[in-house]
Amino acid sequence: MPEIIPTTHALGADIVGIDLAAPLSAGDFGFIYQAWMRHLVLRFRDQSLTDDQLLAFSRNFGPLDRNPRHAKSERQMEDSSDYVNVISNVVENGRAIGGLGHYEAKWHSDMSYNPVPAMASALYALEVPPAGGDTSFASMYSALETLDEATRERIANLGCVHDSSLNSVGQLRVGFEEVTDPRKTPGAVHPLVRTHPITGRRCLFLGRRRNAYIPGMELADSEALLDMLWTHATATEHTWTQQWRVGDLVLWDNRAALHRREDFDGTTRRVMHRTQIGGDRPF
Ligand code: OGA
Ligand code: MN
Repeated sequence: MPEIIPTTHALGADIVGIDLAAPLSAGDFGFIYQAWMRHLVLRFRDQSLTDDQLLAFSRNFGPLDRNPRHAKSERQMEDSSDYVNVISNVVENGRAIGGLGHYEAKWHSDMSYNPVPAMASALYALEVPPAGGDTSFASMYSALETLDEATRERIANLGCVHDSSLNSVGQLRVGFEEVTDPRKTPGAVHPLVRTHPITGRRCLFLGRRRNAYIPGMELADSEALLDMLWTHATATEHTWTQQWRVGDLVLWDNRAALHRREDFDGTTRRVMHRTQIGGDRPF
């Protein structure tokens, strides 16, 4: 059996003693799944995975969502690039091989602007820079549980719009116009407090701060409430930071955890491959 070594923080654990390049036995999968539900973010170090092995591991958890950066092309056949999202600052022959560059990615939950967001993401490190580019995670169980009673009651039945116009480093997505009034932000509206469909625990579901808006509220009130919730939710007591090594695979639960990435020196190389596992509609 593999072993679980929790971080000493609000979330995150290492799973040691397992080679993810091989198919998972039902027993090992069950063990990993339970650990994941408890710790929200799992790290598997010293892996050596092809894209097909990364896809096979990810598919244990459910059907995958397509790579959100990969516009439907004329190609008739699907291939692994339809599901493997390259996250990289590397430019080859004048073309970026992946997304997000070397910029800071502010706190977010992947694809939360969709009506049915990805439930999980798996990010596998092929090349890491000598410094920077750390990825932090925040537990939204812990964030909700430590909110004062009055605020919890106030937000219990509120929704929030999750901006679909900007990617996680703040770049305008193709086909969108810049949002100037958050009351008109495009994107899905989700409950601010959601119930995790597997654990049954409630958590904050903030998604992304930029252009967020709580429908039905005065804009200034929405801004003030969101600022307060975000400051609380991303306080260090709820977080854990991953410093990448080549061969790390980190699996996170987008339903109950946020993540952010530090920027890094753009003249150094960082190459990661990500899969996104399909989820269900937040409730
Ligand atoms: C992502 C993301 C974090 C990172 O792939 O969803 O936010 O560390 N990236 O690159
Ligand atoms: Mn992300």
